[in-house]
Amino acid sequence: MQPKVEILADQTALIQRSLELMVEKIQQSVRERGICTIALSGGSTPRPLYEAIAAQNLPWEKIHVFWGDERYVPSHHPDSNEKLARDAWLNRVAIPAENIHPTPTDSGNPQQDAQRYEQQLQQFFQLSPGTMPVLDIMLQGMGDDGHTASLFPHTEALQVCDRAIAVGNKDGSPRITFTIPAINNARCVLFLVAGSGKQNAIEQVFSQTADPQTYPAKFIQPQGELWWLLDVAAGAPLQS
Ligand code: 6PG
Repeated sequence: MQPKVEILADQTALIQRSLELMVEKIQQSVRERGICTIALSGGSTPRPLYEAIAAQNLPWEKIHVFWGDERYVPSHHPDSNEKLARDAWLNRVAIPAENIHPTPTDSGNPQQDAQRYEQQLQQFFQLSPGTMPVLDIMLQGMGDDGHTASLFPHTEALQVCDRAIAVGNKDGSPRITFTIPAINNARCVLFLVAGSGKQNAIEQVFSQTADPQTYPAKFIQPQGELWWLLDVAAGAPLQS
């Protein structure tokens, strides 16, 4: 499916549009399947979106939250993507505790925790061995280097195609991340990208020639819908 690309005037417009789209997709999932499963991203861009979603009147008991990637830190650590989402959103709404599915990062062994998360997904989604979960919404960010989730350029996690969860590597620091096939299995992948620092990566990801091993966001070509919501600062290379 061709990506849907929208370039918004500024970060405020970007967050407003991403809120509209998230609410629309959540309501569509609940209407069609009685549930909405969402995997969240971390970093700085999504915080205002999480704060805006928290102010919405949504069927929280039907919404299940996962993480597309997580730093290998405790959940109370300032770098934790779980902490980000709980502080900005989940602690502010009546979502049942059992609907929140954090990434395990407490065994001291990233590979073991990646396997634990994989098993939790298999159980929740009732997966037969070797099959990938189908998330309703994967919210993705993109780094200046073109990484997404914790799929960093020229790392081993980019090669994992038989599992949903792998150990990512950011400059030697372990991360737990959804893999490319797991992200691509989603019904809707929504990239939220802001800031001029992303311009080069956007240009490369949307080019025909760039190597996805160098710009991993280029690997994200889902079966379902692919949305890129950009502010003008990030999306300038796409404007003719
Ligand atoms: C993370 C994210 C990561 C993030 C990008 C963009 O754990 O940091 O999941 O993939 O989305 O690095 O981060 P910013 O939104 O801070 O630019």
